[in-house]
Amino acid sequence: MYKAIFAFNHKKLKLSYSPILGSLEPSNLCNLNCVMCARDTISGRGSGLMSVETLRNVINVENRNVIRTVDFTGHGEPLLNPKLEKFIKIAKPFARKVGLTTNSTLLSKDRAKSLLDAGLDFVSFSFEGVSKEVYESIRVGANYETVFQNIHDFVALNKKLNSGCKTFLIIVDSPLTHSSLPKFVDYWAGIVDEVRIMGIHDWGGVLDSSLVEKSYSHRKLPCFEPWYHIYVRWNGDVVPCCVWEGKTKFGNVNEEPMPKIWNNSIYQKFRASLLSSPTDHCRSCNLDMLGDVFSEAVTVPHASFPFHKSTVSLAKRFITYRSRL
Ligand SMILES: C[S@@+](CC[C@H](N)C(=O)[O-])C[C@H]1O[C@@H](n2cnc3c(N)ncnc32)[C@H](O)[C@@H]1O
Ligand code: SF4
Repeated sequence: MYKAIFAFNHKKLKLSYSPILGSLEPSNLCNLNCVMCARDTISGRGSGLMSVETLRNVINVENRNVIRTVDFTGHGEPLLNPKLEKFIKIAKPFARKVGLTTNSTLLSKDRAKSLLDAGLDFVSFSFEGVSKEVYESIRVGANYETVFQNIHDFVALNKKLNSGCKTFLIIVDSPLTHSSLPKFVDYWAGIVDEVRIMGIHDWGGVLDSSLVEKSYSHRKLPCFEPWYHIYVRWNGDVVPCCVWEGKTKFGNVNEEPMPKIWNNSIYQKFRASLLSSPTDHCRSCNLDMLGDVFSEAVTVPHASFPFHKSTVSLAKRFITYRSRL
């Protein structure tokens, strides 16, 4: 990550390192209809499941460590792709860590076992389960008891098999969950390795919801995402982040090798634009994982939630770097 911070700080547009985080989208289909999600609007052209061939084109090139950390996530539910276990096995030799972000509705005991057997290094369970009523009003189509049990079963199996898979629980914080956070975090901090609180964002101004607290809608500093993160849609289209609008792409891994796309002229021009005159979409976006969101995390009153110490210190250092820009 330090290479990326250095490059960003020195306004480098052509990067000498591979993406540090790759968000790969096994599916842009979903079995839920969550109130804070804008997948219908921004999930790109068409819909479907990623193929093995596309995945191989993302990571299976001569260079090892093409992407440092692979997170199977996206504008859909990864567990809807029956090849996910195969994807994990394919990605393992090329990435340092391979993980998954899931709504956990389909995480049966059998699926948990096959994912752990495939070598999953980390899993993020998305769960706003401060109560059954709140959870089911946010995650429309999900059942609170099922997901609660699925997460517990996964954690127990992980322990029993001694698989060493890191478990994270992500809660998207909104006015619906905010007052219940301390109790919720206390409970889950004793079960999973880390509880992560995500500030709700509005997907680059696309989500029209009263849930988005306008206090988050401020971008003080340029976005850092394209210096460390790459997002590959189910069909191989490459974009800089999960908030990118659906119409345009920076390349397609089935047409051009991924390392070339990472430094092609579109990518370089885009990095330059962020430093000088961001597009309207980027200007209105209030997501920046290591920037605004983490700076909220270390400065707002609920900062004491258990972000990992190294994450907080990295975020602080990062903010210090960026404040010099
Ligand atoms: C888009 S989902 C895809 C993976 C899977 N379907 C899930 O829900 O975990 C990826 C992550 O984005 C989070 N998310 C969705 N809408 C959000 C929003 N408006 N603000 C912040 N995070 C959001 C989800 O909770 C999830 O942790
Ligand atoms: S489960 Fe994930 S992808 Fe599906 S609607 Fe909810 S947040 Fe969006």
